[in-house]
Amino acid sequence: MLSRKIPSSGEELPVIGAGTWRSFDIGNGPEERSTRVEVLDTLFEAGGTVIDSSPMYGAAERVVGDLLPETHRQNDAFLATKVWTEGKQHGIDQMHRSMDLLRVPTIDLMQIHNLVDWRTHLSTLRDWKEGGIIRYIGITHYTVRAFEQLANIISTEPIDFVQLPYAISLRNAANLLLPLAADRGVAVIVNRPFEGGNLFDAIQGVSSRRLVEEFDCSCWGEFFLRYILGETAVTCVIPATGNPAHMLDFVLSAGKAVPNIAMRREMVKFFESL
Ligand SMILES: NC(=O)c1ccc[n+]([C@@H]2O[C@H](COP(=O)([O-])OP(=O)(O)OC[C@H]3O[C@@H](n4cnc5c(N)ncnc54)[C@H](OP(=O)(O)O)[C@@H]3O)[C@@H](O)[C@H]2O)c1
Repeated sequence: MLSRKIPSSGEELPVIGAGTWRSFDIGNGPEERSTRVEVLDTLFEAGGTVIDSSPMYGAAERVVGDLLPETHRQNDAFLATKVWTEGKQHGIDQMHRSMDLLRVPTIDLMQIHNLVDWRTHLSTLRDWKEGGIIRYIGITHYTVRAFEQLANIISTEPIDFVQLPYAISLRNAANLLLPLAADRGVAVIVNRPFEGGNLFDAIQGVSSRRLVEEFDCSCWGEFFLRYILGETAVTCVIPATGNPAHMLDFVLSAGKAVPNIAMRREMVKFFESL
């Protein structure tokens, strides 16, 4: 799988990871659990490592912690989770709980979810990074209205990662945040690459013939992800799925050449004509 450097360290990160919101918020049923193990196996087999979770995602952290040993690839995982609460001690308690649920003594990337009480948590995260409890610090949001604040923070604070929404149908990040992140040496994780799945509703019934003939894409998932990967400021994309076949589509998209500017323009034109 194609990988890109985390600017603050030079470490290579595979460009496709797994989101866990809803997709890993499941119960104890053996069938639903074994399907998620297959999702993770598919990611790992293709060379992917990044798994993104949050205490906000119901059972997701616990499910990831339970299932990783079944993949026998725990050591390959790059675990990203978040702090999503107010107050210093509440944040510390929540992050310890996340490590317990994920069954790890350290976290690769700890992110401040939706910027909740970000100044308070940032000071804890700096201490934790220095102490080796986390390796990288990040901030996240899922709406365009937070872009100005994300931009202000990455302009003024030493942050390793910013996580934001970017999709063929939602390209605002390309105007300011992506160039700024590249300039400031901040890695970018893209969330909601299919706008939560809405993009698949939008193409219901549309023939995929032109995808194959004009864009060398075998399916819509690949088309949407390769568009995003064409943006070189993007370090990693974290599409969510509970379906191993969909994960296979995602990882295959990271094995092909990324589209250039002209091709990306054509992709937008095509998508907007649907
Ligand atoms: N503030 C934040 O920090 C924040 C906010 C939002 C999201 N995130 C992170 O970003 C991740 C991704 O975002 P997301 O979960 O909102 O949505 P997404 O990745 O944009 O879309 C996921 C949805 O797409 C569907 N899908 C995937 N392939 C498909 C296909 N071929 N055909 C039909 N449906 C398909 C999935 O259903 P199936 O299960 O059926 O494949 C799932 O319902 C999250 O899981 C989370 O980790 C972070």
